[in-house]
Amino acid sequence: MKIPDKGLKKEDVLKALKSYKGQDPDWKSGRVLGYIYYPGDKAQDVIDEAYTMYLTENALDPSTFPSTLRLENEVVGMVAHLLRGDENVVGNFTSGGTESLILAVKTARDYARTTRPHIREPEMVLPVTAHASFYKAAHYLNVKPVITPVHDDSFLADVDAMRDAITDNTILLVGSAPGYAHGVVDPISEIAKLAQEKDLLCHVDGCVGGIHLSYMRKLGIRVPEFDFTVPGVTSISADLHKYGYAAKGASVVLYKNKELRKHQIFACSRWTGYTVINAAVTSSKTAGPMAAAWAVMSYIGDEGYMKIVREVMEATQIVIDGINRIDGLQVLGEPNMCMFSFASTSQKINVYRLADALKTKGWFLQPQFKRANSPANLHISMNRSTVHQAKTFLKVFEDTIEELKHEEVDDKTKELQAELEKLSIKFDDETFFKLAGMAGVTGTELPDKMETINQIMEVLPYDVSEWILIEYLNNLMIPGEK
Ligand SMILES: Cc1ncc(COP(=O)(O)O)c(C=O)c1O
Repeated sequence: MKIPDKGLKKEDVLKALKSYKGQDPDWKSGRVLGYIYYPGDKAQDVIDEAYTMYLTENALDPSTFPSTLRLENEVVGMVAHLLRGDENVVGNFTSGGTESLILAVKTARDYARTTRPHIREPEMVLPVTAHASFYKAAHYLNVKPVITPVHDDSFLADVDAMRDAITDNTILLVGSAPGYAHGVVDPISEIAKLAQEKDLLCHVDGCVGGIHLSYMRKLGIRVPEFDFTVPGVTSISADLHKYGYAAKGASVVLYKNKELRKHQIFACSRWTGYTVINAAVTSSKTAGPMAAAWAVMSYIGDEGYMKIVREVMEATQIVIDGINRIDGLQVLGEPNMCMFSFASTSQKINVYRLADALKTKGWFLQPQFKRANSPANLHISMNRSTVHQAKTFLKVFEDTIEELKHEEVDDKTKELQAELEKLSIKFDDETFFKLAGMAGVTGTELPDKMETINQIMEVLPYDVSEWILIEYLNNLMIPGEK
């Protein structure tokens, strides 16, 4: 691929882009039960206009673009108010949950550098259900993740195990509200109390749930305590591009006070160029997502969010009840909001095969591997744009289960496991292509069916499966014609 010699006509450029989209699922149909959080066409118009209005303003430098500072402070203020922070709470706008979590971990690390300088190898204690972004933060920032178990069946953090995992090097305790995998809110009050007792920081990952749970609370629906009213909580992340229904590229990370937040900020005045002061990871950045987040929150308003949350919760209950009624399937734990997972309790239903079969009918569910005490499962996140599909989904779902029950079950997992045991895993190209071949992947294409790949990945040691994933992406992301 190269830049065309002569520029194309606008219509041709846009036509080409539109045709690329043909490869993607029709998410507006409400059949993509994850990834998408769509507020509806009217709110989306507001988002689109606000986004493009601020697309070119550079939020790198509020002294040149003061409106971006105002937007950021107002967006942060709205979320801090929702999460019941007091007047000392401060925060920043980030590009998403991952950036918010990286910043929360960096802040904890650098706070510890000042307050407990003897710590050379900082550690954070994470329930195994904490999001993968914490591992990324650990990887980037050289903080050791110390993983603790969650309780059987409830998948809630085991706070006694967290207590046992604390060492002299611990700088941070983490809880999720909720964890993505099962949609259950950790016992934040207990985790935060433990943090207070041990004089540690406590981050609540409210990336996916911060906004939705707060509106559930406002509606009078029982929600475990998780926000700034919980003593001991020192920071919270909340994504606007999930259940805030903002355009992607929008999250906030909030701190109990400025004293803590200052450890997040980076400044550089020692190079030959312009002075850099960044509150977040990115430097030059469009103010579009910030303006769009400001716009959608202002447009929907508390009443609008409460209406959305009520409808989404009703639809979620319909889907959960419908799945639990199916013999051989069970929703895991007791989900607190509109996201949950279900596993198979019968030999007859292979969830990975079920996900593939549903995908051929245009429905997207996310497979999640068997990890710790969590069995292989499929994840569903409901949102405003899937509400109207709840009943249709259940019908298609039940039909698909029936069809699969009559299919010949050839369980490849055991066969593959035996093969894998024979294979001495060396981290080289030959092994990669052999494993990829066993899974039915050429190594350079996006696969259609994921069942076998998921089965292989599930049984491999983590370092091997992560190595394969890296090799795979490295082979897939090659510039050129596709
Ligand atoms: C609980 C939780 N934390 C963090 C993240 C990461 O967010 P992002 O994908 O916006 O980086 C997610 C994403 O789903 C999440 O559910």
